[in-house]
Amino acid sequence: MTYVVTEHCQKCKYTDCAEVCPVEAFHEAPDILYINPATCIDCNLCVAECPVEAIFSEEELPKKYEKWTKINAEECEKYPTIAEKKAPLPGALTLEQWKEIDAKAGA
Ligand code: SF4
Ligand code: F3S
Repeated sequence: MTYVVTEHCQKCKYTDCAEVCPVEAFHEAPDILYINPATCIDCNLCVAECPVEAIFSEEELPKKYEKWTKINAEECEKYPTIAEKKAPLPGALTLEQWKEIDAKAGA
């Protein structure tokens, strides 16, 4: 199993998750983080840290985010690991804003 970063991280990148990961499983792309499934030890620490609920265990991944398992696995290796918190991207959305977007998208 692994944990998976999904849509809400895009353009936000709060990075609280990377700071708590004990094995440096997060990789940083310009507009999102990815979890490396080969590194993740399924500790579950990162899920509660994300302020926009972007991280799920593979087992609990909502159907609408199914494609993100493959995206994380394929994209993570292209970017360096990140283990420290940094400032989120300018204009990062709040959870309430994401919920409005999801509702409009019929999610
Ligand atoms: Fe890191 Fe644990 Fe999250 Fe996996 S579940 S990415 S090991 S914090
Ligand atoms: Fe992204 Fe949430 Fe981590 S927004 S960087 S998955 S804390």
